[in-house]
Amino acid sequence: MNVTVVGSGYVGLVVAAGLAELGHNVICIDKDAEKIAQLREGKVPIFERHLEEVVRRQERRLRFSKNNLKAAVRQSDAIFIAVGTPIAPGGKCDLSYVDEVVDSVAEALSDVAFAHKLVVEKSTVPVGTGEQIARRLPKRVDVVSNPEFLREGTAVTDILYPDRIVVGTDSPKALAMMRELYRPLLDGSYALRADAVPCPESGKCPTRMIATTVESAEIIKHASNAFLAMKISFINAISAVCEQAGADVEDVARGMGTDSRIGPRFLRAGIGYGGSCFPKDLAAFRSVAGELGIDLDLLAEVERINVDQRQRFLEKVRFALGGRLKGKKVAALGISFKPGTDDVRESPALDIVRALIQEGCQVSAYDPAAADSARKMLYGIESRMRFASDPYAAAKNADAVLILTDWNEFAMMDLERLRDSMRDPVLVDGRNLFSPESMAELGFTYISVGRPAVNVSEPRATGTAG
Ligand code: UDX
Ligand code: UDX
Repeated sequence: MNVTVVGSGYVGLVVAAGLAELGHNVICIDKDAEKIAQLREGKVPIFERHLEEVVRRQERRLRFSKNNLKAAVRQSDAIFIAVGTPIAPGGKCDLSYVDEVVDSVAEALSDVAFAHKLVVEKSTVPVGTGEQIARRLPKRVDVVSNPEFLREGTAVTDILYPDRIVVGTDSPKALAMMRELYRPLLDGSYALRADAVPCPESGKCPTRMIATTVESAEIIKHASNAFLAMKISFINAISAVCEQAGADVEDVARGMGTDSRIGPRFLRAGIGYGGSCFPKDLAAFRSVAGELGIDLDLLAEVERINVDQRQRFLEKVRFALGGRLKGKKVAALGISFKPGTDDVRESPALDIVRALIQEGCQVSAYDPAAADSARKMLYGIESRMRFASDPYAAAKNADAVLILTDWNEFAMMDLERLRDSMRDPVLVDGRNLFSPESMAELGFTYISVGRPAVNVSEPRATGTAG
């Protein structure tokens, strides 16, 4: 099929590459001329495994252009909307970019004959958006909700081996077209191709399509993200209880996660969630529920626990440094909001680094991918921190090392080398990468989340300060 994807950000670019990989002819459009120019030279501006390989391999089917939406729309069977849906003040979802695209599509189709087309909501939008969009488009256009469940760092395999494909529409014709669009994933034939991106162990192949109404599909996306964020805040709240009770949250999570109704994933205690989706989607979901007269206060509590977790971590660092942060030299390992990505949007690590600098710490940071994106976000205080080329350089003469993102590179570090480069062997682990026992043997003062601290000065069973 001929497809247009509007928006070439984290979501749009991956969706465009995925659809080309499935054999469709795709035009990816973005108003950001620089981004389009880079993509045309085969340069992929985001750090996603397999993405560059797929974009390169599909160059005949995948074209990039800056906003000649009119021509693209006229020759496409389906137009995917994958532009940003940021948060407006008060938590409401800002649909101005989506509206702009819908108006351009309506305009492009106003004076041309065509039999039938799909406009597909790929961006995360509040329930009711599809209905609003349909009112502004010609009758022969079916509006379909097809939310994305891409996780950054595994976005390409998430789109090629999804747990499920959700399609919301009341048009049998539209549903048939969406089945055709994703057929290689539904019949498993994609995975059999010699050059297919390999299926990850958690991937589904073949996958299944969940067909429902537009409204239900829109809610599935918000409710899924809200539940995942709630699961993370739940285990973080439990980690605070474990600290006071001298228990071990990793054991608690293992004991809980082996219940097939709970499951082990998204039950990792740490400094909490970040990213461009969870914070924004929870706010947008609460806002649209409020407009429908329902108070989703539960989500306010999920957000509060998540923000509180960063404060609790900061207190652990203060405790580890004898109660004073000012003037101390701290190495921050990890800035991105999660491993496998260069994305620092709403990153808990970035918040913690900012707070440490504000309290007069000297921070040297290292991240395998996110240093450049972090520099852009640290305006005004970048002079008071430096980026090191590797974790050991960051830790040189440090009074403490902090683990803020669970990059595998940090889990594999030579801890003796790290310890010997530090002024004081103090490690505060925000992602529970290491075991307290092994850190004690190495002579570290080791404080982590939801577990007893080791080698701390006062005899304390817990890992928190004060
Ligand atoms: C975003 C949201 O974060 C996600 O929840 C939603 O499902 C999809 O949109 P992401 O791809 O990360 O995902 O957004 P972003 O990286 O900001 O990319 C949006 C792209 O759309 C940008 O490249 C922007 O230049 C482009 N855009 C935006 C247009 O081409 N036209 C517009 O009118 C607005
Ligand atoms: C999320 C959803 O998983 C995805 O389905 C949706 O489409 C977009 O938002 P993403 O934000 O890219 O994906 O990453 P994810 O892997 O969900 O992690 C989100 C945050 O939660 C990260 O900051 C991560 O560090 C944190 N997290 C995740 C935890 O703190 N504990 C966990 O157990 C899992």
